[in-house]
Amino acid sequence: MTDLPLYLHIAHQLQARLDSGEWPPGSRLPAVRRLAAEHGVNTLTALAAYRHLEEQQRVVARPRSGFFAALPRHVASGTTAPPGPTAAALVDVDSRMSQLIRLSASSIRQQLHMAEAHSSLYPAQELSRRMQLLLARQPELIGAYLPTADQQQLQQQIRRLAASWQLDIPTDHILFTQGITEAISLSLRHLTRPGDVVAVETPVYFGLLQTLQILGLKALEIPCTPDAGLSLEALEFALRHGAPVKCLVTVTNFQNPTGALMPDDNKKRLLQLARRHGLTIIEDDVFGELYFGAQHPTPLKAWDRDGEVIYCSSFTKSFAPAFRLGWLSGGRHHAALERLRESSSLVSPAILLAVLSEVLASGDYARISQRIRQQLKQQMDALADAVLAAFPRGTRVRRPQGGMLLWVEGPEGLDSQAMLETALARSISFAPGLVFSAEPRFAHCLRINCGQPWSTQLAEDIRTLGWLASEQLAGSR
Ligand SMILES: Cc1ncc(COP(=O)(O)O)c(C=O)c1O
Repeated sequence: MTDLPLYLHIAHQLQARLDSGEWPPGSRLPAVRRLAAEHGVNTLTALAAYRHLEEQQRVVARPRSGFFAALPRHVASGTTAPPGPTAAALVDVDSRMSQLIRLSASSIRQQLHMAEAHSSLYPAQELSRRMQLLLARQPELIGAYLPTADQQQLQQQIRRLAASWQLDIPTDHILFTQGITEAISLSLRHLTRPGDVVAVETPVYFGLLQTLQILGLKALEIPCTPDAGLSLEALEFALRHGAPVKCLVTVTNFQNPTGALMPDDNKKRLLQLARRHGLTIIEDDVFGELYFGAQHPTPLKAWDRDGEVIYCSSFTKSFAPAFRLGWLSGGRHHAALERLRESSSLVSPAILLAVLSEVLASGDYARISQRIRQQLKQQMDALADAVLAAFPRGTRVRRPQGGMLLWVEGPEGLDSQAMLETALARSISFAPGLVFSAEPRFAHCLRINCGQPWSTQLAEDIRTLGWLASEQLAGSR
């Protein structure tokens, strides 16, 4: 290695960082001047390193913009494809998913791998009382669908709730679904055909990868960072240079797994970009109600003038997970989505809709969701403090401003999958970085759920995870 010319030495280091997922496809690489300063070389040497990687098709030069990570099909195999039409890949995540499903079904004591809040955060007693009273008064809720008038009333209440997030939608453009999962899958079924390319964030919620796989769709992974959310530059790059993209699925508020909140300016710019490229957006706002600040962040949909955003929301995280009450507002696609829903699950259970309606009408929903938010915020603070104190130097954490997920970027070289094996032996689970991409990326990262009430045991378990991370790193050196 030491006999290599300096520029090749730098190129190899860059290549290793590209392989590790530090710069996902489409993301901007350090400017030539910065690269030169980092390595203490002149700019010509730094440029030569980039040119070498360009020949290897690992980076792409864009006039006046700099160098960008290319879109490889299989980073791990060492084979690379030119950026562009061949970059999106069919999704195959079965083995990784089954690992997580096995974890949920196991007797692991400290389960931190899912995106769920502990059942004690939800008002089970209160909702159970309400449901019993409702059924005593209206037993027909068991034997019939919700009457149209009652359904319209609930739509009015949701319209008012959304208006408090600056989202103005017509009452008849609110369609109930089974969780947000059905809302997203109906939208994808409506917008795509097998083999089509769908842009998603990377890292991405693994449930979405599974949906794409089932529908035979190709995922085009666009970088998403905890600080800025989805990279609009990378998206634009892909839209200009890649295969035609049918739609984008994005979690604009408190993304899973990074916790990123897309800034309002970016939301507006994303809409402009989508308009220029005729791109439909499926906005997944499942975590929007779990804001730690003063108010629900404004959804992207609030600025959508063309009806090209299909807004999807859910009460599964902020109210009652087991009710599985989601909804969507489909813009110009709404009527088609209504028809699809009829052939999918037809309607949501009347009794559950009726309970939600009562809770919204009485104003209790505001109190219930606020309590959940407050508790999650406290738990998130405690978890982030504990991770920063326990994990090895070089670990990065950005405290999310909402949601229930902490994305932990370990030091270079950390193998979170190997670390998981040792954690499971101590009955602690988390989600390893590898499950958040269809490509072998984010091996040094992990996602920890903050939905568990803080306790001395949990504090101890986080210390154990930090220690295991240090051990794993030391063993790999
Ligand atoms: C980003 C994201 N979208 C969708 C879902 C599924 O939501 P639901 O339970 O409402 O179907 C989850 C669940 O964790 C999620 O994290």
